[in-house]
Amino acid sequence: MRRNLLITLSVTALALLASSCGGKVDKSKEVIPLKDLIGDRFKIGVSVDPRQMEGPASELIAYHFGTMTAENVMKPVAIYGDGTGYNWEQADKIVNFAKEHGMKMRGHTLVWHGSTPRGYTQHEDGTDLTAEELYAKHEQYIKDVMQHFPGDVVLYWDVVNEALADSEGDTIYRTRSPWYRICGPDFIPWAFRTARKYAPENVKLYYNDYNLVDPAKRERAYTLLKSLVDAGVPIDGVGMQAHWDNTVTEEQIQACIDRFSSLGLDIQFTELDLTCFDNFHGDGAAARQKIKTSVHFTPEMSKAQADEYEMFFRVFDKNQDKISSVTFWNVDDSSSWLNGFPIRGRIDYPMLFDSQLQPKEAYYRVRDYFLSKNKK
Ligand code: GLA
Repeated sequence: MRRNLLITLSVTALALLASSCGGKVDKSKEVIPLKDLIGDRFKIGVSVDPRQMEGPASELIAYHFGTMTAENVMKPVAIYGDGTGYNWEQADKIVNFAKEHGMKMRGHTLVWHGSTPRGYTQHEDGTDLTAEELYAKHEQYIKDVMQHFPGDVVLYWDVVNEALADSEGDTIYRTRSPWYRICGPDFIPWAFRTARKYAPENVKLYYNDYNLVDPAKRERAYTLLKSLVDAGVPIDGVGMQAHWDNTVTEEQIQACIDRFSSLGLDIQFTELDLTCFDNFHGDGAAARQKIKTSVHFTPEMSKAQADEYEMFFRVFDKNQDKISSVTFWNVDDSSSWLNGFPIRGRIDYPMLFDSQLQPKEAYYRVRDYFLSKNKK
């Protein structure tokens, strides 16, 4: 117990120290930009915070990546906020950085229960808006967002995020969402039609969700996506978040790619990270975690992570005609949301770059995979 506490404290202190001073970005010839290694197979991106638009993290971002997703500041809860006026400033910092560096972006997200501002779906007396009232209010929001962000930079939008249930029941949908409670499943086609009405013509529209490698959730997603495609709803693709762990198999990933692309949909991996613990982050995630406290990142963990990342990129490469982009969720280990989720205070090591922004074994394995493929 005492030992665990000490490890937790020392690892936490290290991570904080690292993220506050930031490492020097290695641009030596050993460290080849990921975007150069991957070339035109698919776009390679990273989720970012406006504070990373300067300092060492910004250098790492511009060096390795071709696209960015705003981790939080393009969500309704950030842009709409408390309803007293749109907050564009933070998102614009990222868009401006993208423009300066010739990068593109994924917009994230327009409709998500987890980012619907407090009170947004209610009247002042706390009763729910009607579906018509909510649609009218959110149509204005979608219109304003689509008109604000330049379509030649923000090329893709996650229109609906996480509308599917985690466990099977009478319905395939997540029912504990104000959107579902008020509108039923119709909010999903509505959101795509509304986004299409206002999005610049070239902008592509995605449905985004997590744990789609789970066969039951994959099939729920297929049912939803097929119903949209069959009804002529303007959806271009599916975003697989890809918050994964070492148990995810090549077969599981391939099964998703085959299933979703059979509907004519483009595939993007939108939030890739690889926890050293258990991946599940749906309902009851904390309870399912076997390891509750921080541990050191051992050589065994490093090798297992490198093996798994190499496999992911081999599968992406093999399916490059069906995949248009892969985005890491966070820049380096110190900025990962997994430090603290689903176990508060537990440090994780999910990225290709460590908390000093130095490339890890996993980076070199991905590099070597592409170097050997590029030679042929
Ligand atoms: C989900 C959301 C993201 C983000 C992550 C946690 O995957 O889609 O926007 O909030 O959780 O960082």
